Amino acid sequence: MPAAPGSESVLSVDEPPLVRTPPPGPSSRAWSARLSRVESPAFAARRDARAERTGDEQAPIVYAQASGANVLDVDGNRYVDLTAGFGALALGHGCPLVTRPVDRQARRLWHALGDVYPSDAKIGLMERLAQVYGDGARAVGSSDTDARVLLGQSGADAVTAALKTCALATGRPGVVAFDGGYHGLSYGPLSVTSFQPSFREPFAAQLSPHARFVPFPRGDADAAASLAALDTALSTGAVGAVIFEPIQGRAGVRIAPPGFWAEVAARARQHGALLVADEIWTGLGRAGALTLSAELGVAPDVLCLGKALGGGLPLSACVGRDGVMAAWAEHGEVVHTATFHGSPIACAGGSALLDALRSERLAARALDVGARWLAELRGALASAPELVEVRGRGLLIGVELSSGELGLSMVRRLLAEGYLVVPGGRRAEVLTLTPPLTISEARLSEFTATLGSLLASLRDHVE
Ligand SMILES: Cc1ncc(COP(=O)(O)O)c(C=O)c1O
Repeated sequence: MPAAPGSESVLSVDEPPLVRTPPPGPSSRAWSARLSRVESPAFAARRDARAERTGDEQAPIVYAQASGANVLDVDGNRYVDLTAGFGALALGHGCPLVTRPVDRQARRLWHALGDVYPSDAKIGLMERLAQVYGDGARAVGSSDTDARVLLGQSGADAVTAALKTCALATGRPGVVAFDGGYHGLSYGPLSVTSFQPSFREPFAAQLSPHARFVPFPRGDADAAASLAALDTALSTGAVGAVIFEPIQGRAGVRIAPPGFWAEVAARARQHGALLVADEIWTGLGRAGALTLSAELGVAPDVLCLGKALGGGLPLSACVGRDGVMAAWAEHGEVVHTATFHGSPIACAGGSALLDALRSERLAARALDVGARWLAELRGALASAPELVEVRGRGLLIGVELSSGELGLSMVRRLLAEGYLVVPGGRRAEVLTLTPPLTISEARLSEFTATLGSLLASLRDHVE
């Protein structure tokens, strides 16, 4: 791989951080000044608001190059990536297990004709995805193992397809979702997303009036109240879909008590509503299983996959059981498609990702490595000031701090130490850790030590 401008070859797979210039360095600043002149001002406004909240500068670094778990910015700083591109890069940056088949596909066929004349790459991937659904259903003892697939480009696309599927299959407009949930920002998904009220409010008049939110339970004590609220919503008979994240990712890696989702599934079934598992973040190995819903004993009627699915290319899927997807053939000409539906290159990425997950046993690795890292973080941070909780499953881990201001500030301090981390939770109070599933444990341990000393320095500061 060629070295980034201004640097010797400091970038190799899974190296420790190497910060040469305090980030953001001069090149990042120059690029971000250019960005601020052309980008929607929403993002700069968010950075400004965060800077005001925390007193810390929020200017971005600018990526130049990346490999494995390392990112190199335009100033030649090397970071350890604990975001994996919001979870999209399960195999890390530029993994040859994906880039080679994608390059081969790109030489052969870039683009086909979507739902009219598909590519062989698309058909092959859809067969694999139907199998992923079937394996999950079989694992929980369901006999409904046949599935059909609608591909999309983003997570929001997959959720849109799932909501449409449920509306067609049940004839009911209602959807129940959980407080704090995040399902994407286009209109259908936004109407069932409650993560950040400000994302919805300006558009409230254009959102579906049929969405209902029930509390997300944080422990056994509030599970009963959540289920009672669900019962109330379902008892109207107007609910066609119950959508859930098996672990709420963007809300700050929030985990429901054991058995909760199985109860939700039973109630949905009893009231004739379909269950949609949004596994866009939890699925495909991230939380230590191909599908976390199956691991939790739940067979959803519709499964949404995205993020990691394209191996880093934009690709998502709504995978529904046969009997539910049949509704698409029963309403005259109704289709859900798009120009780039089933892009052969993205589909090649998808098949490569599924191959690699299996051949490298990455879901099992994520479960093992994640359990060790979770224990290490809990041990190292046990007496850290301002720590609320460390929680997670697989390599989807959240470190909750006492305030959003501290969360945002820690993200910046970690950046200065050479770690890429994104904030989660409604107030940004959670450090969200989703490294590539292939990352070495040495990098994770170094991070634990760095975070431990940054948090400990808060105590020194106070004393
Ligand atoms: C659980 C979940 N669903 C849906 C989405 C939306 O995906 P996208 O941003 O690709 O539209 C996200 C994105 O973070 C997500 O975490």
